[in-house]
Amino acid sequence: MSEPTSSGDVRIDWQKARDANRENWDDRVPLHVEAYGLDAFDDPAHLSDVVRTDAAALAPFLPQGFAGLDVCHLQCHIGTDTLSFARLGAHVTGVDFSAPALEAAAALAARMGLDADWVETDVLDAAAAVGSEFDLVYTSIGTITWLEDLNRWAAQVAQLLRPGGTFYIRDGHPVLYGLDETRDELVHRFRYFENGRALAWDDEGTYAGDGTVAHPRTYEWPHPISSVVNALLGAGLRIVHMDEGRTLPWRFSPRMLEVDGEYVWPAEERDLVPCTFTIVAVKD
Ligand SMILES: C[S@@+](CC[C@H](N)C(=O)[O-])C[C@H]1O[C@@H](n2cnc3c(N)ncnc32)[C@H](O)[C@@H]1O
Repeated sequence: MSEPTSSGDVRIDWQKARDANRENWDDRVPLHVEAYGLDAFDDPAHLSDVVRTDAAALAPFLPQGFAGLDVCHLQCHIGTDTLSFARLGAHVTGVDFSAPALEAAAALAARMGLDADWVETDVLDAAAAVGSEFDLVYTSIGTITWLEDLNRWAAQVAQLLRPGGTFYIRDGHPVLYGLDETRDELVHRFRYFENGRALAWDDEGTYAGDGTVAHPRTYEWPHPISSVVNALLGAGLRIVHMDEGRTLPWRFSPRMLEVDGEYVWPAEERDLVPCTFTIVAVKD
């Protein structure tokens, strides 16, 4: 399969870029339904690896557990993480702009015998589209680089939380995203800082499965950690924890090694770059 290629910075209208991204995400759904290992969810004890990690990270902040909590999962894709929270006893609402992704999520919920609500919307319009408040707003692994305006995103998060509610994000670290994943050493190639433009990508493949998409062009927006923090603070949230991790739930680079179902750089490089960041914030 061909490598993803970037034609670099482009000026593009948000709605045009978002529509191109949505077509690409719609195309990925059947490939991910095949590749995400959905059969594993037939075991009633099975949780996604992502939620197993995140539930443990959230435990100090939600000591009462997830049972009975109202959870809103932003950019829920085909629902594997959303429904893992449902399995932990939460009332879940999954939000995504891809209708095929939500159809696949609803089919998985039916197969698992779980209730869930699914809302089709641009995440930047999520508060009005969902129209209720939650104890936990959650988003993870492959989210904010798809968004141009982090302040608008953080405002949605704040509006979706009830007072006392918790926000949690774990995502790829912007330093990681600056690396050229095709090189045989750690080489920075892509922008860390924002400049008002998108990075255009062409990739017929996707991170899970071998098939190809009909709409290979996507647009992403690098956001430095300071922008994420400042967007959440600006929306009135109180940040109570940050973390940076050395492992990823997907193989970012062919050079990454699989260890216990996660991906890491070779040992001598493992302390050189962060792979993920995590932020926990509270609405007072
Ligand atoms: C990498 S997935 C993240 C989900 C999760 N980590 C997983 O693997 O199931 C990214 C999701 O973001 C959604 N997405 C991208 N841009 C969006 C937007 N502007 N509004 C709503 N959803 C969006 C895509 O449809 C996709 O389902």
